[in-house]
Amino acid sequence: MDKAKRKAIIAGNWKMNKTPKEATALLKAIAPLVADADCEVIACVPYVDLAAAIEATAGTNIKIGAENCHWAESGAFTGEISTGMLKEVGVEYVVLGHSERRQYFGETDETVNKRTKAALAAGLKPIVCVGELLWERECNITEEVIARQIKLDLWDVTEEELKNVVIAYEPVWAIGTGKTATSDQAEEVCAFIRAQLAKLYNQDAADAVTIQYGGSMNDGNADELLSKVNVDGGLIGGASLVAEKFAAIVKAASK
Ligand code: PGA
Repeated sequence: MDKAKRKAIIAGNWKMNKTPKEATALLKAIAPLVADADCEVIACVPYVDLAAAIEATAGTNIKIGAENCHWAESGAFTGEISTGMLKEVGVEYVVLGHSERRQYFGETDETVNKRTKAALAAGLKPIVCVGELLWERECNITEEVIARQIKLDLWDVTEEELKNVVIAYEPVWAIGTGKTATSDQAEEVCAFIRAQLAKLYNQDAADAVTIQYGGSMNDGNADELLSKVNVDGGLIGGASLVAEKFAAIVKAASK
Protein backbone atom coordinates (compact mmCIF):
# COMPACT_ATOMS: atom_id res chain seq x y z
CA MET A 1 0.00 0.00 0.00
CA ASP A 2 1.47 3.37 -0.85
CA LYS A 3 1.34 6.60 1.06
CA ALA A 4 -1.45 8.03 -1.06
CA LYS A 5 -3.78 5.36 0.27
CA ARG A 6 -3.14 6.22 3.91
CA LYS A 7 -5.09 8.90 5.65
CA ALA A 8 -2.98 12.03 6.11
CA ILE A 9 -3.72 13.57 9.49
CA ILE A 10 -2.70 16.98 10.77
CA ALA A 11 -3.47 17.32 14.47
CA GLY A 12 -2.90 20.32 16.67
CA ASN A 13 -1.75 19.58 20.20
CA TRP A 14 -2.66 22.72 22.08
CA LYS A 15 -1.12 21.53 25.37
CA MET A 16 -2.00 23.88 28.28
CA ASN A 17 -2.98 26.81 26.08
CA LYS A 18 -6.26 28.65 25.41
CA THR A 19 -9.29 29.17 27.61
CA PRO A 20 -12.69 28.03 26.28
CA LYS A 21 -13.38 31.49 24.83
CA GLU A 22 -9.96 31.65 23.22
CA ALA A 23 -10.45 28.12 21.87
CA THR A 24 -13.69 29.14 20.20
CA ALA A 25 -12.03 32.17 18.60
CA LEU A 26 -9.04 30.18 17.33
CA LEU A 27 -11.19 27.39 15.89
CA LYS A 28 -13.49 29.92 14.20
CA ALA A 29 -10.39 31.45 12.63
CA ILE A 30 -8.98 28.08 11.53
CA ALA A 31 -12.22 26.61 10.13
CA PRO A 32 -12.57 28.66 6.91
CA LEU A 33 -8.84 28.29 6.19
CA VAL A 34 -8.98 24.48 6.22
CA ALA A 35 -12.47 23.96 4.82
CA ASP A 36 -11.19 22.42 1.59
CA ALA A 37 -8.47 20.28 3.19
CA ASP A 38 -7.72 16.96 1.59
CA CYS A 39 -6.56 15.45 4.87
CA GLU A 40 -8.00 14.90 8.31
CA VAL A 41 -7.79 17.98 10.53
CA ILE A 42 -7.87 17.62 14.31
CA ALA A 43 -7.48 19.97 17.25
CA CYS A 44 -6.53 18.30 20.54
CA VAL A 45 -7.44 20.75 23.26
CA PRO A 46 -7.47 21.00 27.09
CA TYR A 47 -10.35 19.18 28.80
CA VAL A 48 -12.24 22.32 29.79
CA ASP A 49 -12.13 23.56 26.19
CA LEU A 50 -13.66 20.39 24.72
CA ALA A 51 -17.33 21.39 24.88
CA ALA A 52 -16.66 24.83 23.43
CA ALA A 53 -14.40 23.35 20.75
CA ILE A 54 -17.00 20.81 19.70
CA GLU A 55 -19.64 23.52 19.49
CA ALA A 56 -17.34 25.85 17.55
CA THR A 57 -16.48 23.18 14.97
CA ALA A 58 -19.98 21.77 14.43
CA GLY A 59 -20.62 21.48 10.70
CA THR A 60 -16.92 21.91 9.84
CA ASN A 61 -14.30 19.32 8.86
CA ILE A 62 -12.34 19.85 12.08
CA LYS A 63 -12.42 16.98 14.56
CA ILE A 64 -11.73 17.40 18.24
CA GLY A 65 -9.38 15.40 20.40
CA ALA A 66 -8.42 15.33 24.07
CA GLU A 67 -4.86 15.33 25.39
CA ASN A 68 -5.14 12.31 27.69
CA CYS A 69 -7.64 9.92 29.29
CA HIS A 70 -7.69 7.48 32.17
CA TRP A 71 -8.11 3.73 31.74
CA ALA A 72 -10.77 3.13 34.39
CA GLU A 73 -14.44 3.71 33.63
CA SER A 74 -14.94 5.66 36.83
CA GLY A 75 -13.77 5.70 40.41
CA ALA A 76 -11.44 7.29 42.92
CA PHE A 77 -8.94 8.91 40.54
CA THR A 78 -8.99 12.57 41.50
CA GLY A 79 -8.19 14.85 38.62
CA GLU A 80 -8.56 12.19 35.92
CA ILE A 81 -10.99 12.01 32.99
CA SER A 82 -12.56 8.79 31.67
CA THR A 83 -13.07 7.70 28.09
CA GLY A 84 -16.84 7.70 28.68
CA MET A 85 -16.72 11.38 29.65
CA LEU A 86 -14.82 12.18 26.45
CA LYS A 87 -17.18 10.15 24.28
CA GLU A 88 -20.24 11.83 25.74
CA VAL A 89 -19.04 15.31 24.83
CA GLY A 90 -18.26 14.19 21.27
CA VAL A 91 -14.51 13.67 21.32
CA GLU A 92 -13.10 11.42 18.60
CA TYR A 93 -9.32 11.35 19.16
CA VAL A 94 -7.07 11.33 22.22
CA VAL A 95 -3.33 12.00 22.47
CA LEU A 96 -1.64 9.39 24.67
CA GLY A 97 1.90 8.99 25.94
CA HIS A 98 3.04 12.46 24.97
CA SER A 99 6.63 12.99 26.07
CA GLU A 100 5.54 15.81 28.39
CA ARG A 101 3.28 13.35 30.20
CA ARG A 102 6.10 10.83 30.34
CA GLN A 103 8.60 13.44 31.50
CA TYR A 104 6.56 15.48 34.01
CA PHE A 105 3.70 13.23 35.10
CA GLY A 106 5.21 9.80 35.50
CA GLU A 107 3.61 8.27 32.43
CA THR A 108 5.14 4.88 31.61
CA ASP A 109 4.74 2.49 28.71
CA GLU A 110 2.53 0.40 30.97
CA THR A 111 0.12 3.25 31.68
CA VAL A 112 0.21 4.38 28.03
CA ASN A 113 -0.79 0.86 27.10
CA LYS A 114 -3.65 0.81 29.62
CA ARG A 115 -4.93 4.16 28.36
CA THR A 116 -4.61 3.03 24.74
CA LYS A 117 -6.58 -0.15 25.37
CA ALA A 118 -9.29 1.77 27.24
CA ALA A 119 -9.53 4.43 24.52
CA LEU A 120 -9.92 1.80 21.81
CA ALA A 121 -12.49 -0.13 23.81
CA ALA A 122 -14.51 3.08 24.15
CA GLY A 123 -14.36 3.81 20.43
CA LEU A 124 -11.86 6.67 20.69
CA LYS A 125 -8.93 6.88 18.30
CA PRO A 126 -5.65 7.16 20.20
CA ILE A 127 -2.71 9.15 18.85
CA VAL A 128 0.09 7.24 20.57
CA CYS A 129 3.30 9.25 20.92
CA VAL A 130 6.73 7.68 20.89
CA GLY A 131 10.18 9.22 20.62
CA GLU A 132 13.72 9.13 21.89
CA LEU A 133 15.54 11.57 24.18
CA LEU A 134 18.57 13.42 22.83
CA TRP A 135 20.80 11.32 25.08
CA GLU A 136 19.32 8.13 23.66
CA ARG A 137 19.90 9.32 20.08
CA GLU A 138 23.49 10.24 20.93
CA CYS A 139 24.02 6.79 22.41
CA ASN A 140 22.74 5.28 19.18
CA ILE A 141 19.79 3.48 20.76
CA THR A 142 16.95 5.32 18.99
CA GLU A 143 15.71 2.14 17.33
CA GLU A 144 15.82 0.13 20.57
CA VAL A 145 13.87 2.85 22.39
CA ILE A 146 11.24 3.13 19.67
CA ALA A 147 10.90 -0.64 19.25
CA ARG A 148 10.32 -1.02 22.99
CA GLN A 149 7.75 1.78 23.11
CA ILE A 150 5.84 0.41 20.12
CA LYS A 151 5.79 -3.09 21.54
CA LEU A 152 4.76 -2.09 25.06
CA ASP A 153 2.38 0.77 24.22
CA LEU A 154 0.50 -1.46 21.75
CA TRP A 155 0.66 -4.60 23.88
CA ASP A 156 -2.54 -6.63 23.42
CA VAL A 157 -3.93 -4.22 20.80
CA THR A 158 -5.53 -6.39 18.13
CA GLU A 159 -5.05 -6.03 14.39
CA GLU A 160 -8.65 -4.85 14.14
CA GLU A 161 -8.05 -2.22 16.84
CA LEU A 162 -4.82 -1.10 15.16
CA LYS A 163 -6.96 0.35 12.33
CA ASN A 164 -8.02 3.07 14.77
CA VAL A 165 -4.54 3.82 16.11
CA VAL A 166 -2.43 6.74 14.92
CA ILE A 167 1.26 6.80 15.86
CA ALA A 168 3.11 10.07 16.35
CA TYR A 169 6.88 9.94 16.16
CA GLU A 170 8.10 12.84 18.27
CA PRO A 171 11.82 12.97 18.98
CA VAL A 172 11.84 14.56 22.44
CA TRP A 173 14.78 16.82 21.55
CA ALA A 174 12.71 18.40 18.77
CA ILE A 175 9.62 19.25 20.80
CA GLY A 176 9.17 22.95 21.43
CA THR A 177 12.87 23.52 20.86
CA GLY A 178 12.77 24.83 17.32
CA LYS A 179 15.09 21.92 16.44
CA THR A 180 13.27 19.89 13.83
CA ALA A 181 14.45 16.45 12.86
CA THR A 182 15.63 16.54 9.27
CA SER A 183 13.19 14.99 6.87
CA ASP A 184 15.60 12.08 6.45
CA GLN A 185 15.76 11.52 10.22
CA ALA A 186 11.96 11.65 10.44
CA GLU A 187 11.58 9.26 7.51
CA GLU A 188 14.14 6.85 8.92
CA VAL A 189 12.32 6.45 12.23
CA CYS A 190 8.80 6.51 10.75
CA ALA A 191 9.88 3.72 8.35
CA PHE A 192 11.38 1.85 11.31
CA ILE A 193 8.08 2.17 13.20
CA ARG A 194 6.22 0.76 10.21
CA ALA A 195 8.67 -2.15 10.03
CA GLN A 196 8.07 -2.87 13.73
CA LEU A 197 4.32 -2.84 13.15
CA ALA A 198 4.80 -5.25 10.26
CA LYS A 199 6.72 -7.57 12.59
CA LEU A 200 4.10 -7.36 15.34
CA TYR A 201 1.09 -7.59 13.00
CA ASN A 202 1.71 -7.95 9.26
CA GLN A 203 2.74 -5.77 6.34
CA ASP A 204 -0.81 -4.89 5.25
CA ALA A 205 -1.80 -3.83 8.75
CA ALA A 206 1.41 -1.79 9.08
CA ASP A 207 0.94 -0.13 5.69
CA ALA A 208 -2.48 1.13 6.72
CA VAL A 209 -1.33 2.94 9.89
CA THR A 210 -1.01 6.72 9.77
CA ILE A 211 2.37 7.70 11.26
CA GLN A 212 2.78 11.38 12.06
CA TYR A 213 5.94 13.34 12.74
CA GLY A 214 5.90 15.88 15.56
CA GLY A 215 8.51 18.25 16.94
CA SER A 216 8.77 21.86 15.78
CA MET A 217 6.86 21.13 12.58
CA ASN A 218 5.75 24.44 11.12
CA ASP A 219 4.60 26.18 7.97
CA GLY A 220 8.20 26.45 6.79
CA ASN A 221 9.26 22.81 7.05
CA ALA A 222 5.99 20.88 6.68
CA ASP A 223 6.26 20.48 2.89
CA GLU A 224 9.65 18.82 3.13
CA LEU A 225 8.76 16.56 6.09
CA LEU A 226 5.44 15.49 4.58
CA SER A 227 7.08 14.68 1.24
CA LYS A 228 8.60 11.60 2.86
CA VAL A 229 6.90 8.33 2.07
CA ASN A 230 6.43 7.17 5.67
CA VAL A 231 5.53 10.56 7.15
CA ASP A 232 1.75 10.65 6.90
CA GLY A 233 0.97 13.77 8.84
CA GLY A 234 1.97 15.88 11.78
CA LEU A 235 1.29 16.46 15.45
CA ILE A 236 1.74 20.17 15.82
CA GLY A 237 2.32 22.04 19.06
CA GLY A 238 3.36 25.69 18.85
CA ALA A 239 2.35 26.26 15.24
CA SER A 240 -1.16 24.91 15.89
CA LEU A 241 -1.92 27.96 18.03
CA VAL A 242 -1.68 30.35 15.08
CA ALA A 243 -4.51 29.88 12.58
CA GLU A 244 -2.53 30.82 9.46
CA LYS A 245 0.44 28.63 10.37
CA PHE A 246 -1.73 25.63 11.19
CA ALA A 247 -3.71 26.10 7.97
CA ALA A 248 -0.50 26.24 5.94
CA ILE A 249 0.56 22.87 7.38
CA VAL A 250 -2.87 21.43 6.56
CA LYS A 251 -2.42 22.73 3.02
CA ALA A 252 0.99 21.05 2.75
CA ALA A 253 -0.58 17.75 3.79
CA SER A 254 -3.38 18.15 1.28
CA LYS A 255 -1.06 18.12 -1.74
P1 PGA B 1 5.97 21.51 18.98
O1 PGA B 1 5.21 20.37 19.82
O2 PGA B 1 5.36 21.50 17.59
O3 PGA B 1 5.70 22.79 19.72
O4 PGA B 1 7.41 21.13 18.95
C1 PGA B 1 4.86 19.16 19.23
C2 PGA B 1 4.21 18.26 20.25
O5 PGA B 1 4.63 18.29 21.41
O6 PGA B 1 3.27 17.52 19.94
